[in-house]
Amino acid sequence: MTAFQPRVFSGVQPTGNLHLGNYIGAISRFVPLQDEMPSIFCVVDLHAITAWQNPKELSQATREVTAAYLASGIDPKKAIIFNQSQVKEHAELAWIFNCIARMGWLNRMTQFKEKAGKNKENASVGLFAYPTLMAADILAYRGTHVPVGDDQKQHLELTRDIAQKFNNDFSDRIQELGVGVPNPTPSNELPPELFFPITEPLIAGEAARIMSLRDGTKKMSKSDPSDLSRINLTDDADMIAKKIRKAKTDPEPLPGDVEGLKTRPEADNLVGIYAALDGSNKQTVLKDFGGRQFSEFKPALSDLAVAKLTPITEEMRRLLESPGEIDAILKDGAEKASEIAEPVLRDVRKIVGFLDVR
Ligand code: AMP
Ligand code: TRP
Repeated sequence: MTAFQPRVFSGVQPTGNLHLGNYIGAISRFVPLQDEMPSIFCVVDLHAITAWQNPKELSQATREVTAAYLASGIDPKKAIIFNQSQVKEHAELAWIFNCIARMGWLNRMTQFKEKAGKNKENASVGLFAYPTLMAADILAYRGTHVPVGDDQKQHLELTRDIAQKFNNDFSDRIQELGVGVPNPTPSNELPPELFFPITEPLIAGEAARIMSLRDGTKKMSKSDPSDLSRINLTDDADMIAKKIRKAKTDPEPLPGDVEGLKTRPEADNLVGIYAALDGSNKQTVLKDFGGRQFSEFKPALSDLAVAKLTPITEEMRRLLESPGEIDAILKDGAEKASEIAEPVLRDVRKIVGFLDVR
C-alpha cells in the first residue's frame, strides 16, 4: 500500500426529531461526497443509547435516519448505508481505544459537559466514552474524510489524537507485521509507517452551526423542549411556514453586509439558513435583502425552505411506509461495511498482541 485510500465516513444518531441543522450541517453535505470518494454513512444506534432511548422508538428512529439519508439523495448503489450495532467491530475497536485515550483527553470534551449537565455523577459511562466510539467508527474503515457540523470538531481532534497515539505506541509492531502505510511526513516524533490515517474533518462553511429559531445563541437541537425552536424533517409545508413566521428576530431591517450581522444572532442565523438552502453565501443573500424588513425576508425564506425540504420529507414518509425496503438496504450495507472493517480489526488484534487460538 502506498497511501491510505480516501474514504468518507459520517454518522447521525437515531434519537428522534431530525432537524434542519442535521440536514444543512451534515446530511445534505454527504450527498455530493458519494460521487467523489468511496463513502460510508452510518446510523449510530450505539451512540444513541448513551442516553436513555425507548427501545420501541429506537428501531423506528433508526429507520427514520435511514429514510432521511435516502430521501436526501444518498444512493445505496454508490455509498454504504448501515446501522452501527450490526457491525461488531465498532464496539470492539472502541474498547481498544478506551485503553489508548487518556482520562485527561476525555475530560476536556465540551459536549460531555453540556450533555451531562449538573448531574455528572449520574451520566452513563458510555456518554463519557462517546468520543472513543466515534473514533472507532471512523478508523475501523481507516476513514480519511469526515463531514460533520461544527459541534463535532473537538471529537474529530480526539480521533486524530487516538490515531496518532496508536501509530506511535505500536510503531515497531506495525512495521514488523508489515501492515502500515508509509507516513508522508515522518519526523523524530512521528513513525515511518502508520496504521491509522490522521482523519481530515470536513466542517460546513458559513452555516456550520444552525441555531434555534427561538434563541439565536443556542444550537438547533433534537432535545430542545420547544418544537418551535427547530424545523423537523417530518414537518409539512404549513408547519415550516408557521415556524419561520414565529422565528425570533429583532426590529431592525437586514444589514447590507455580513459585518452588520455580527451582533444580531437571530438575523445571522436566518440569513445563514437562506444561504445554505440556496447554495449561495450570506453576502449574496444580503445583496438581495439588505435594507429590507423581516416581514419581507421571512416569506421568501419560508418559500425557499418549503421548496427544498418538502420533496425530502414526502419521500421520507413514502419510504417509511415500507420498512422492509429500508431494512433490506441496511442489511446489505452492514454486509459491505463488515467486509471492510473485519480485516482492519484482524490486523489491530495482531498489532495489540491478542493470542489468536480459533
Ligand atoms: P446528531 O443529531 O447529534 O447525531 O448530529 C448529526 C449531525 O448533524 C452531526 O454532523 C452534527 O454536527 C450535525 N448537527 C447537529 N445539530 C446541528 C446544528 N444545529 N447545526 C449544524 N449541524 C448540526
Ligand atoms: N457524534 C456525532 C454526532 O452526534 C455522530 C457520529 C458518531 C459521527 N460517529 C461518527 C459523526 C463518526 C462522524 C463520524 O453528530
